[in-house]
Amino acid sequence: MVSTLINSSEQTLQEIAEEMKVRRTCEVFLLFSLGSQFDHLIKQSLEKLGVFCLVADPSRVKATDVAKIRPIGIILSGGPVSVHKDPPPFDEKIFDLGIPVLGICLGFQLWANYVGCRIIPAKKKEFGVHPLQINDFLELLEGCPDGTPVLESHGDIVEAIGSRFIVLAQTENSAVAAAQHGCLYGVQFHPEVTETTSGIQIFENFCFKICGAQDRYPASDIAKQKIDLLREQVWEKKVLLALSGGSDSSTVAHLLKQAYIILSAVHLRGVYIKGIDRPDDEAYVLKYFGGQDWIDLKIVDATDRFLAVLSGKTTMKEKRIAMRSVYKKVLEEEARLFGASFIAQGTLYTDISESGGGYDTRAEKAQIKLHHNVNLGFSVEELTPLSDCVKDSGRNIGRSIGVPEDLLIRHPFPGPGLVVRIEGEVTADKLRIARQVDDIYIDELRQADLYRSVWQAGAVVTQSSTTCTKGDGAASGLVVALWAVWSVNGFTAQAAELPWDFIKLVSQRITNEVPEVGAVVYRVSDKPPATIEWG
Ligand code: XMP
Repeated sequence: MVSTLINSSEQTLQEIAEEMKVRRTCEVFLLFSLGSQFDHLIKQSLEKLGVFCLVADPSRVKATDVAKIRPIGIILSGGPVSVHKDPPPFDEKIFDLGIPVLGICLGFQLWANYVGCRIIPAKKKEFGVHPLQINDFLELLEGCPDGTPVLESHGDIVEAIGSRFIVLAQTENSAVAAAQHGCLYGVQFHPEVTETTSGIQIFENFCFKICGAQDRYPASDIAKQKIDLLREQVWEKKVLLALSGGSDSSTVAHLLKQAYIILSAVHLRGVYIKGIDRPDDEAYVLKYFGGQDWIDLKIVDATDRFLAVLSGKTTMKEKRIAMRSVYKKVLEEEARLFGASFIAQGTLYTDISESGGGYDTRAEKAQIKLHHNVNLGFSVEELTPLSDCVKDSGRNIGRSIGVPEDLLIRHPFPGPGLVVRIEGEVTADKLRIARQVDDIYIDELRQADLYRSVWQAGAVVTQSSTTCTKGDGAASGLVVALWAVWSVNGFTAQAAELPWDFIKLVSQRITNEVPEVGAVVYRVSDKPPATIEWG
């Protein structure tokens, strides 16, 4: 299987031909990843439509390669750079091949710049969801209602004056939100994210109406493919799995369960690392993985080790790095003790992408935050069967192989745990406070029947203090920040509009029951520009 396209050598062309045979299609799309955090979502959107799409490296796949591969359509993702400063290496002759192109955000600006339009800094940087005012409902925007919400996240815009294209749509802040110049199409917003509710319709229009695709290959049984691949890899060898009690590592446990031909706890050990976890994580792990004949569960209490490396560290970045070092050491020690040939983790594509990785292209990619489970450089081989999934697709795989729903619907929790929910130095006391606060917040969300409708919620012990009065005395108390988001896959998220009465109730409980806390605030920012976690 070709994962990232880097050239059109004879071997690559043959691999593509074989893959097309398997998928019973003669049509391929190329997605040039220009370093967007969302590139994988574009690929997923095309896959949902049953379209075969290869991710191409813009620094190495040239117009001559594209001519040989003959894709029926090309998509250019967004990216973190500007067309004026360090633009991604991209062979612009590709725009002259007569193949339909859909440029997204930076991808749009790249072709607009090439055909002679000006790309200028926007008066106001744009991060958020806006209604799309459509001028032309034909082809690209056919079937999209006027005013349909679109997510924009950019600093530059394409200038409308003297343009060499047809303006198909605009938003309040982008006079050119969608445009067409011959077979070049562009959108300044992101059709691949769930906030753009007509996004899938736009991809459908581009692939089938504009590029004339005919084939839709049936979605294959993804779980079965993953199990078959794991079986080939592990056969009868031992695997140590980092188990957290959340949906991803639980799904990996069940994939492995089905991959082993002879199933026994001799082959598979789950390690739960305790110390910076939620109050109820251990109970979940024990409930679903303790006392089983197919997995041996080991709980390692690393509280002291975490506290030792976190001592004196105050920035989120240095705390994340410190946490990773203990996480890596514990897993390697446990792998050695168990005699494991592999360490398995529930790492998702989101984790890799936010850590600055992803498709193997040379496009510059921003590191949003270094996730705990990416690029650890273990001395034993790693198994990350969900590394091409995002949260919702990982959950769907879990569902299809019988992972208990109770585990699948748990709110995601970051590997660095409460470390990223505590500002400043992490101490035993602050961990205790963070757990107490989390316990109250989640308990109330469940009681109010809000737990499932919220995608993720968390409480942060900030470094701010507030003057407060408890009883008749004056005191100083910590400020706790609550947040909750609606999301589908964690790439983007909206601040959840929790009922005011609910927030008041949680605030009252926290300030009453946790003596160190003086005030509670609620964060209302979306992602982007914020991220889901505080740190
Ligand atoms: P952010 O905060 O970056 O998070 O918007 C997106 C999702 O990833 C979770 N997250 C992590 N998960 N290791 C993980 O496994 C990490 O280091 C990490 N940091 C954030 C976060 O909780 C959210 O669900």
